[in-house]
Amino acid sequence: MIKLNRRQFIALGIGGAGVAIAGNWLRQETISSQPVPQSSVDLTPIYQSNDGLLELDLEARERIVELAGRQASLLTYNGQIPAPRLEAKPGDKVRIYFTNNLQQPTNIHYHGLHIPLTGNADNVFLEIESGKKLTYEFQIPNNHPSGTFWYHPHLHGLVAEQLFGGLAGLFIVRGKDDEIPELKAAQEEFLVLQDFSINADGKRTNSAHMSLMMGREGELIAINGRINPSIALSKGGLLRLRILNASPSRFYRLALEDHSFYQIATDGNSLSEPIEVAQLLLTPGQRADVLIRGDKESGQYSLLNLPYDRGSMGMMGGRGMMGRNNRDEPITLATVNYEYAVESMALPSKLNSISALPEPQTVRRFELNHGMSPAVGMAFLINGEPYNHDVIHTQVKLNTIEDWELINTGVMDHPFHIHGNAFQIISRNGQPESLLALRDTVLVKRGETVRIRIPFRDFAGKTVYHCHVLDHEDLGMMGNLMIEA
Ligand code: C2O
Ligand code: CU
Repeated sequence: MIKLNRRQFIALGIGGAGVAIAGNWLRQETISSQPVPQSSVDLTPIYQSNDGLLELDLEARERIVELAGRQASLLTYNGQIPAPRLEAKPGDKVRIYFTNNLQQPTNIHYHGLHIPLTGNADNVFLEIESGKKLTYEFQIPNNHPSGTFWYHPHLHGLVAEQLFGGLAGLFIVRGKDDEIPELKAAQEEFLVLQDFSINADGKRTNSAHMSLMMGREGELIAINGRINPSIALSKGGLLRLRILNASPSRFYRLALEDHSFYQIATDGNSLSEPIEVAQLLLTPGQRADVLIRGDKESGQYSLLNLPYDRGSMGMMGGRGMMGRNNRDEPITLATVNYEYAVESMALPSKLNSISALPEPQTVRRFELNHGMSPAVGMAFLINGEPYNHDVIHTQVKLNTIEDWELINTGVMDHPFHIHGNAFQIISRNGQPESLLALRDTVLVKRGETVRIRIPFRDFAGKTVYHCHVLDHEDLGMMGNLMIEA
């Protein structure tokens, strides 16, 4: 089997219990007998688990980094944009020695991972003050799906600002999907999509009130911190792109000139077989894993971001109030280059077996809208209420299955995310959903009703659900969920 241009990064664990890796990592190039062009698409440091333990120091801090040829002052984990990629396997322990050197409090959410929601795990109610440390510690269950997950701050009121500053990184669970021969043979690349708003002095610019209502978007779109990087594709080969929308509000509607995507995973869960799609819509928080076949004429092809209208406040009109993609031309985000040829590779025919979840014990309705709230003024609301830290908005029982009907009566799209448990879409506007898939974030378009089915498994405790346009979340579109043992 020919494997080309597969750069290998090896995270070096320092032996001995309790010793942090302290930022040491070593990059190694694979020796290849053929000329291998350096891909500029992904130079992110990687930490991998070793002997069942993923252990690292992680520091949140404002740093000057190079972005789009400028020096920009961004919020980083370990000085990196995007943050280091973490890789572990089902059954592994994870220990993250976290230091908050931001000027404000923060915490970390492990988006999509099915791990404890309490203690020093995926607990969004922890608050780590500026200058303080916390050790995150959890185990990835043995039966955890392999897939693309991520981590980012989640302190209510500061989430959009901290993500917009750059704080986001991938968390990959390597498992049985990665052993599928066709996927093993494919060239794997990771794309973290982020947008930034930076002025001429390299300072992050503040968002105006209306853009907060809409959800802030930056004019600079970067993939792995780079503008229009090139991605190598071999003629005959398969390219596996694992894509994360880590922007606080921007939606991406991706298309690759003259090529289809063969989607193999939605968020952190693989599909039962690849499905061919011409375009890929990714809302904030969502991930997609796709294969691209190198079966066209050699050359260069643009990975485009197509316009998408996610609605507007609609009161005053004007550019500042709409989702930017609403009016823009397609933008080239990256360029795919045919660089050399390999023996023709096939798509995998079978990936995973997914079965439909059994009927729910309970059905609930959640209305998504914005409006005036006596306590806070203009707010984003779920069932007419803005988020209240002190209230349990929804109480469910562990080991039950529920259907949630998400009804968007507003004028903007809302991607709805639930922490801790992946769900299936049952229907949209009463039409049964044909694709059987597991997700953790689902788009509910304005005027739309989406029914989802959620199994509450393994982990009891308090967590949240919310709109993943993070300004909407910060402005109230979130609820506390208590999973009762
Ligand atoms: Cu990615 Cu509650 O968020
Ligand atoms: Cu929203």
